[in-house]
Amino acid sequence: MSDSLPPSLGLKPNSLLPASLMVSGVPYPSMVLEGDSVECLKQVPDEHFQLTVTSPPYDDLRSYQSGGKLDWDFKETARQLYRTTCVGGVVCWVVNDSTVKGAESLTSARQKIFFVDECGFQVHDTMIYQKPNFSNPSKGRYHQVFEYVFVLSKGKPRCFNPIMDRRNISAGKDGSMGANTCTQSDGSKVVRKRRVVSEFGMRHNIWKGNTRGQEEMCQKLKHPAMMPKWLARDLILSFSDVGDLVADCFAGSGTTGIQALKYGRRSWLCDKSSEYSKSLRTTIQSHETLSLY
Ligand SMILES: C[S@@+](CC[C@H](N)C(=O)[O-])C[C@H]1O[C@@H](n2cnc3c(N)ncnc32)[C@H](O)[C@@H]1O
Repeated sequence: MSDSLPPSLGLKPNSLLPASLMVSGVPYPSMVLEGDSVECLKQVPDEHFQLTVTSPPYDDLRSYQSGGKLDWDFKETARQLYRTTCVGGVVCWVVNDSTVKGAESLTSARQKIFFVDECGFQVHDTMIYQKPNFSNPSKGRYHQVFEYVFVLSKGKPRCFNPIMDRRNISAGKDGSMGANTCTQSDGSKVVRKRRVVSEFGMRHNIWKGNTRGQEEMCQKLKHPAMMPKWLARDLILSFSDVGDLVADCFAGSGTTGIQALKYGRRSWLCDKSSEYSKSLRTTIQSHETLSLY
């Protein structure tokens, strides 16, 4: 996937933007909070978000501020995410495991089960984000080139805007099965119009695309674990509508918030690191201005 929009969507970022600061009666296009995910989410009313696209700290893989690791409470964050998600709302949880003493930690699998058994989410889909290459070479096993995207929903998802950018290998050919007849009530057979396979079909649930480092080649990244812009964008376009409120409780550099605003959604962001949340506020403000005027 690239940073340019999938051809079939035909959307232009700025064509979708809300005309005023009031969208669907809610008075903010974006909000940035500095603080712990649980404490920030506790301030949010029930069923407030239509979508969350977030990537929590993966096991103990990285230290997110100069002073060392930040703690986070998975279980209470998961419960708060369920409470703050509207009926039909979706949480996209982008995650991976570390390898501990030669074995996968299984943290993501435990999280997935907790989301379902203890919170009430359903696993709508388990998608894969496949990178073009690996970050660290693996010893004694194949190199690790993917992350999970758990698509969790509170009941049946209220919206799904499938991205239709997978080129059909049999585009333009006859896609009808066999003789393509149907039997009438009197037993006679009628030949149906033959179906021509369209040029593009719906994307599958393994999404291949560049890492953020590859998207911003030769630039110093603002954050050690930035989500690719295309991944945040395509999840937002798929599982939310214009004007929806999109949250990220581990916002980092604000990828989710920026893509949400760019495509006419609103955003709610928090990060515990004062370093990131300060620069996040400046970044989001500049995008808000860009988006709204
Ligand atoms: C994987 S990064 C997210 C990166 C982000 N998706 C982006 O594209 O920039 C995880 C973020 O969680 C933040 N964090 C760690 N513990 C937290 C907590 N308890 N509450 C809120 N944020 C936390 C870290 O500061 C870090 O920025």
